[in-house]
Amino acid sequence: MSVDVRNLVKCYDRQEVLKNISFKIGGAGVTGFLGPNGAGKSTIMKILSGLISPSSGSAEINGIDVLRNPKQAKAIVGYLPEHNPLYLDMYVKEFLYMTASVYGVKQKQKSVSKAIEMTGLAPECGKKIGSLSKGYRQRVGIAQNLLHNPEVLILDEPTTGLDPNQIVEIRNLVKETGKEKTVMLSSHIMQEIEAVCDNVIIINNGEIVADGITSILKEQASRPAVEVEFLEKTDAATLEKSSFIEYAGLTESGSFLVRGYNNRDIRAELFGWAVENNLTIISLQKKEHKLEDIFRLLTKQNGSSI
Ligand SMILES: Nc1ncnc2c1ncn2[C@@H]1O[C@H](COP(=O)(O)OP(=O)(O)O)[C@@H](O)[C@H]1O
Ligand SMILES: [Mg+2]
Repeated sequence: MSVDVRNLVKCYDRQEVLKNISFKIGGAGVTGFLGPNGAGKSTIMKILSGLISPSSGSAEINGIDVLRNPKQAKAIVGYLPEHNPLYLDMYVKEFLYMTASVYGVKQKQKSVSKAIEMTGLAPECGKKIGSLSKGYRQRVGIAQNLLHNPEVLILDEPTTGLDPNQIVEIRNLVKETGKEKTVMLSSHIMQEIEAVCDNVIIINNGEIVADGITSILKEQASRPAVEVEFLEKTDAATLEKSSFIEYAGLTESGSFLVRGYNNRDIRAELFGWAVENNLTIISLQKKEHKLEDIFRLLTKQNGSSI
C-alpha cells in the first residue's frame, strides 16, 4: 500500500491552487490533510481519485499512475467526497447492492455484509437512506466505498456537519479502518487530526507547510518557546540569524514566538542579543505552545513560516 505524489500543480485559469505538491504515504494508517478552507485539500483528493487531472505532476497509488491507468487505480481506491451524494429514496442494503453491481464486485452478498459490519450499519440497514441521521448517512457513504475492498480510502471532511457524538463515532470508524487500509482524511480541525491521524500533512494556499508524524509534530510543537515583543520593527529572519535561535515566527499580535536550540531557555541570551542589535524588549515570557498554535502560524495568510 503506497501513495506517491510528485510535483502536483493544478491551475484554474490564472489561479495556481496546487503549487508543486509532493508527498509519500506507505502502509496502513490514517494520514490527515489539514488546512484552512481553500487550501487545496479537496483538489488533491479529487486528483488522487481520478476525478480531475492535474496541470502537471504525477500521482501513483501502489505504483499505478492514476492519470495513465485510471481504471486500475480506481479499482483500489475508495473516495468519499465532501458532499456525499446518496439516493435518499433507496434502502441502505438496496443501495449498497446497487453500488456493488456498478463497481462489478464479484461476491456481492459477502462484500455488502462486510461493509455493513465494518461501518456498524446493521441496525439501520433495512431503512431508507432519507430516514437516517447524518452520522448514519456518512456511514453509508463509507460502506459504499468499502464494497470493492480498496487499499486506499480517501475521505474528504467526513465529519463536517455531524453532531459531537456522531463525530466521535465516525472518527472511531476511520481509526478502525486505518488499521488495515491506507486512509487519507481531510479536515480543517486541528483536534480532529490529533485525535485520529498517525501522520499529518499541513497544507496552506496550495503548498505543504509541514509533513510528519502527528505525535512528533506535537512533541516538537510543545517544546518550550518564548514570546517576545520588541519596541522597534524587526522580522523573524533577523532573529533566526542569531546563533542560538532555531526558529522565530511572527504572531498575529506582532510579537514573535522564538525557540532556542536543544530546548534550552534562551531568555537571558535574547536580552543580550537585543542589546547588541539595538532592539528594546518590551515583553518576554515563556510559552508552551500547542500544535494548534503551530497550525495557526503555518497557515496564516502571508505569515512567516516557522
Ligand atoms: N472547479 C474549480 N474552478 C475554479 N477554482 C476552483 C475549482 N475547484 C476549486 N477551486 C479553487 O481551488 C482552491 C482550493 O480549493 P479546494 O481544493 O476545494 O480547497 P479545500 O478543500 O482545502 O477547502 C480554492 O481557491 C477554490 O476556489
Ligand atoms: Mg475541501
